[in-house]
Amino acid sequence: MKIKLIWDWPTRAFHWLLVASLSGQYITAEVMDNAMQWHFYLGYFTIGLLIFRLIWGFTGPLYARFAQFLVGPGKIKAYVAGRKAARRANAGHNAVGGWSVIIMLTLLIAQAVSGLFMSDEIFWDGPFYHLVDASVQSYASWVHHTFFDVILAVVALHITAVLFYVLIKKQPLINAMIHGKKATDAPPIDSSHSGRALFICAVIAVVIYWIISNAPTW
Ligand code: HEM
Ligand code: HEM
Repeated sequence: MKIKLIWDWPTRAFHWLLVASLSGQYITAEVMDNAMQWHFYLGYFTIGLLIFRLIWGFTGPLYARFAQFLVGPGKIKAYVAGRKAARRANAGHNAVGGWSVIIMLTLLIAQAVSGLFMSDEIFWDGPFYHLVDASVQSYASWVHHTFFDVILAVVALHITAVLFYVLIKKQPLINAMIHGKKATDAPPIDSSHSGRALFICAVIAVVIYWIISNAPTW
């Protein structure tokens, strides 16, 4: 088995920036006083990260693509049953891990989008709070307060699973998410994706800036 590039830098950057921005979201909402403005700024950044990952799931290199790591029930069963071929075939997310990525992204999108439609009932209204009626506002608030606990539980499970692979199965997954490389028989990716990634980021940044700065104020 040779050491090959599996995780492209945009996917790695997405992952660690997401960890940093979610920690910031927590601190600015729960720990610091008067930091709601920063909670909002970080929220827009998190939304940008999530939109990037969705687009990258269709346009990125092989192992970043949803079609590569989302498999049907047959392959999941073979993986869970421990069949060697099913385990060795893939250098990217495994059959169970792939779906857990989708669960995490879905929860995070719901968390971030709900923030846009809610208010702290004191000073800070999300940019679209006044565009929706009271029932949507209270539903968004319920989602924002409830989903964060679910996210914490899923992230705890995610970190436990990763540590299980690192410590028990001796697979250096965390290092691979840092430098991108793994010892594998699977085909590597090349590194010709920087221009595409930067272009997508620039478009997302401009669109989010435009939408938020043109949101109606009351
Ligand atoms: C806020 C906390 C975290 C969130 C929301 C999160 C979310 C995610 C997501 C969405 C992916 C999929 C990456 C992609 O394909 O785009 C992923 C993969 C991964 N994460 Fe995290 N993560 C968190 C914390 C951590 C921490 C603290 C570690 C290290 C201990 C870690 C290690 C990994 C590894 C190694 C992978 C790749 C798994 C594989 O090889 O299939 N994550 N994470
Ligand atoms: C994934 C991104 C986000 C995360 C993880 C997150 C997390 C949180 C957390 C943990 C709280 C405290 C909830 C509680 O006290 O029960 C909170 C409150 C809040 N968030 Fe977010 N948030 C995100 C995005 C946003 C966005 C984009 C906005 C609006 C632009 C926003 C607006 C608010 C507001 C207004 C509150 C105050 C709620 C209150 O005091 O009742 N959030 N957020």
